[in-house]
Amino acid sequence: GHALWLRYPPLAEQAQGTPAPVTGLVAAAGTPTQAATRQELLRGLGGLQGTAPPLADAVGRPGALLVGTPDSTPALAQLRPALEGLGREGYLIRSVEIDGHAATAIVANDDIGALYGAFHYLRLLQTGEPVDALDLRSAPEVRLRVLNHWDNLDRHVERGYAGQSIWDWHRLPGWVDPRYTDYARANASIGINGTVLNNVNANAMVLTPMYLEKVAALAEVFRPWGIRVYLSARFSAPVEIGGLETADPLDPAVRRWWRAKADEIYARIPDFGGFLVKANSEGQPGPQDYGRSHADGANMLAEALAPHDGIAMWRAFVYSDEEPDDRAKQAYTEFVPHDGEFADNVLVQVKNGAIDFQPREPFHPLFGAMPQTPLMMEFQVTKEYLGFATHLVYLGPMWEEVLRADTHAEGEGSTVAKVIDGSLHGHALTGIAGVANIGTDRNWSGSHFDQANWYAYGRLAWDPHASARDIAGEWVRMTFSRDPDFVGPVVDMMMDSHQAAVDYMTPLGLHHLMGRGHHYGPGPWVEGGPRADWTSVYFHRATRDGIGFDRTASGSDAVSQYAPPVAREFGDLARVPEDFLLWFHHVPWDHPARSGRPLWDELVHRYDRGVAAVREMRATWAGLAGQVDAERHAQVAAFLAIQAQEAQWWRDASIAYFQTFAQRPLPEGHAPPP
Ligand code: GCU
Repeated sequence: GHALWLRYPPLAEQAQGTPAPVTGLVAAAGTPTQAATRQELLRGLGGLQGTAPPLADAVGRPGALLVGTPDSTPALAQLRPALEGLGREGYLIRSVEIDGHAATAIVANDDIGALYGAFHYLRLLQTGEPVDALDLRSAPEVRLRVLNHWDNLDRHVERGYAGQSIWDWHRLPGWVDPRYTDYARANASIGINGTVLNNVNANAMVLTPMYLEKVAALAEVFRPWGIRVYLSARFSAPVEIGGLETADPLDPAVRRWWRAKADEIYARIPDFGGFLVKANSEGQPGPQDYGRSHADGANMLAEALAPHDGIAMWRAFVYSDEEPDDRAKQAYTEFVPHDGEFADNVLVQVKNGAIDFQPREPFHPLFGAMPQTPLMMEFQVTKEYLGFATHLVYLGPMWEEVLRADTHAEGEGSTVAKVIDGSLHGHALTGIAGVANIGTDRNWSGSHFDQANWYAYGRLAWDPHASARDIAGEWVRMTFSRDPDFVGPVVDMMMDSHQAAVDYMTPLGLHHLMGRGHHYGPGPWVEGGPRADWTSVYFHRATRDGIGFDRTASGSDAVSQYAPPVAREFGDLARVPEDFLLWFHHVPWDHPARSGRPLWDELVHRYDRGVAAVREMRATWAGLAGQVDAERHAQVAAFLAIQAQEAQWWRDASIAYFQTFAQRPLPEGHAPPP
């Protein structure tokens, strides 16, 4: 469990008599990143081949592996011209001939590219790909590939289901847990190059010298692995830890304070990444407290960071004190008017959908709507609304669906992925963030299958056009087994798991129906409390007449925030994808679904379908006993049993509740016994 996808089991276990692919390793170790690369290859090849290959200075016989840059490794200099366009982080992996011997070259412009290439090569071996005729070229499509830890300084992880925070603030910097290195290795293996250490609901204390010393110790561990450290900055820090009377972003003293704070941080951490800010949302302080805009706030921090090439990531998850007519509209309303006002080193970080990491949301209307501002994607790897770490839900298909969605901002084919990779509007500064699911649990993520979501996030961050199915296949082979009789059914199960969860929790575009506060289990009946949009009834709007949130022109008109072709599709009852029907429309209980069933029957059908899918997952997994070690098999089986029970709980509770409005009988064939 704790080795994640870097287990490196012997290749011979599955393919008897396979010759060792690598007979010698030519790898410099003159820099920390080179040393890390060499060490990882020795470790990986040692595990996969049974013994680590000998280190060599030159290629003396067939089967050598050379890794490095043209400068670090002269034998690779002949490949220099082929490195053009790969940037710092890209690499080539090629089967070549050197000094008359067949060899494999992993070569890059920079040490970090070579490290990424080494992990790619190990992945090929781990997944059972042939390595004898290679000609691979890869470079990341997104520049900043970042994890966001919602970790508090007391080690509680907000929305974390994998134990406590792995940052042991109390013992840092004196004790530097080796686990930090494992964390960095795992992230580097999937191309993650940044980490925001603390919660967006930030504590200003992290910006004080006592904590900065600890942050610097972590940055030192991560540096060889190409990972920069960022911090969530509390907007009111100048008041709370700086002794100023105000945090007004246009106040010269406040600006001076942030500049000095940035200088202080960079003096300790020269490659510090920058700040992430949640402002004027859910009670957090922000520029609006002083009558200023998001752009004023972001630009003040950007100005402090700019001399050091730091970045300000400003979140668009805003959610004001006043109740909006439709919470889905707020981010667009607040941000679009400021397009073009943000400084060059600001990224606006936008959640995948406009509500809040629901099991399924249409893509956020901000994507494509701010052409002059680089927008960062924010995905949630931790499964706040998807059954925590207990339910098996592979998020690859959900993220793929969002990335492939067409914003139509610049005509057909203007996908969200093209907004994120900067190609749609010509931005060189690009980024993606994933809210981490990492904690002190032995398996890191709270469950074995939740490791796949960390893995898939990194792989999609590197290439937002990649396939969720391919990524699942890689992960299963690396984590469990290369046996096709195992891989096939497990990948299918993972690929179907997201739709299953949507079906048993929030079918047909329903959303935000979880238990209040904790968000685990059904709570469609939640009403009352401090504000309307903290209830479920606000979102489903079920009455005797029908169900769903009218976001068309006759309702909140949130559809008009999308580009016209998308707005027309979502706004048209005949064309809206049925998965978003009740997200955009309020329809009568007898509204004919595309299946021909009346809506009520279709709703029940989908709940049943979700429950049946989980039963099938259980059966699939039970049938694979013996193909994976007993310990992991048993835990996954136990979790699937919980999920099966809770899928039924979701279904039965939701149907019973909605039936009080629909007042219709349960359709024929509902709830066949297991
Ligand atoms: C959700 C989540 C909060 C979190 C917030 C955010 O509302 O429940 O815990 O702080 O998102 O993304 O800022």
